[in-house]
Amino acid sequence: MRVLVTGGAGYIGSHTLIELLGQAHEVCVLDNFHNSRPVVLDRVRSLTNGKVTSVTGDVRDRGALDALMDDFAPQAVIHFAGLKAVGESQRQPVDYYDVNVTGTLTLLRAMDRIGCRRIIFSSSATVYGEPVYLPYDEAHPTAPLSVYGRTKLMAEEVLTDWARATPEATAVLLRYFNPVGAHASARLGEDPADYPNNLMPFIAQVAVGKRDELQVFGDDYPTDDGTGERDYIHVVDLARAHVAAVDWAESNTGARAFNIGTGQPYSVYQMVEAFRRASGHPIPLRVAPRRDGDVARMQADSRRAEAEMGWRATHTLDDMAASTWAWQSGNPDGYGG
Ligand code: NAD
Ligand code: WQD
Repeated sequence: MRVLVTGGAGYIGSHTLIELLGQAHEVCVLDNFHNSRPVVLDRVRSLTNGKVTSVTGDVRDRGALDALMDDFAPQAVIHFAGLKAVGESQRQPVDYYDVNVTGTLTLLRAMDRIGCRRIIFSSSATVYGEPVYLPYDEAHPTAPLSVYGRTKLMAEEVLTDWARATPEATAVLLRYFNPVGAHASARLGEDPADYPNNLMPFIAQVAVGKRDELQVFGDDYPTDDGTGERDYIHVVDLARAHVAAVDWAESNTGARAFNIGTGQPYSVYQMVEAFRRASGHPIPLRVAPRRDGDVARMQADSRRAEAEMGWRATHTLDDMAASTWAWQSGNPDGYGG
């Protein structure tokens, strides 16, 4: 299928391009490089010998989208382009609603103009908010705790109403848990622009000597070792979920949400220990106060994705740590090196 990938130069998008090309899909990327670099697409090309066309543009730019739709005529769109930092979203809510919600609306209008009826959307487990029960299934109430989470939920609602009103339309809402890890080649990985917001890239930077110590945000949660537990998912498993979703969209209509996780949560200390094993380096740490807005535990029930899309995570915790370490140690300055 011809697949337009918005935000395709980003962390998850770049890994997804590799998996799409591996399944003989044609891809075209739209990215404004707000949080990525063009060199990422060169690396994808060199890893796949695949044809990756790209347009530098903003997902809110209707003119750029219309031109791209006319040239490439996608049969499906995977929509990664967006802003994703929870703390920043609290300080810049209008930017987040604009990029994440207006961006989605603009994209839908451009798709409608050419009759493109399939969209796969990067949603987030953060739409659930404080757990009412665990593991979260897709019927769990949604009550996001941040502006970022509300923009994701709002975009889901837009897509659901669009699918309801548009004959033959399919909207696949993939609710990712915590993506980590890197491509097996160690040529692609997560490259945070400045201060890492997430645990894994932070640990990786401590192990490589870029940062002195990890702050553990709270060791008094009601979990086995007192630190927060998350359902970490290897980015290659996540990328493969998008290929499964494209296939699913070919033979199904309507809007449908799918959790994308492993079902096996790990604590901060377990992540640190896995990283020590993988890297052979010490990870100095210090217990700090809890971080605002954090929940004790997140765990996915991903049985729907397995039953309906035939997708299941296969990578282990050690795969997550080893691939992150291979990427970080081989590219200490990320794509800037
Ligand atoms: P990322 O920042 O690495 O990738 C996003 C890409 O979109 C970047 O290449 C960026 O340059 C591009 N982009 C941003 N704004 C744009 C705009 N206005 N027009 C065009 N391109 C634009 O992030 P990621 O981790 O790969 O996440 C991809 C998507 O998945 C995001 O929508 C994010 O909200 C969602 N998501 C991420 C996580 C996570 O923890 N990484 C978890 C759940 C959901
Ligand atoms: C994981 C655990 C922290 C950093 C975020 C977004 C979510 C989704 C994924 C986009 C928690 C602890 C972290 C550190 C620490 N993104 N931690 N020291 O918060 O579960 O999810 O990314 O959709 O929306 O909220 O991930 O990696 O920040 O934290 O102790 O320096 O690690 O308290 O328990 P989180 P995270």
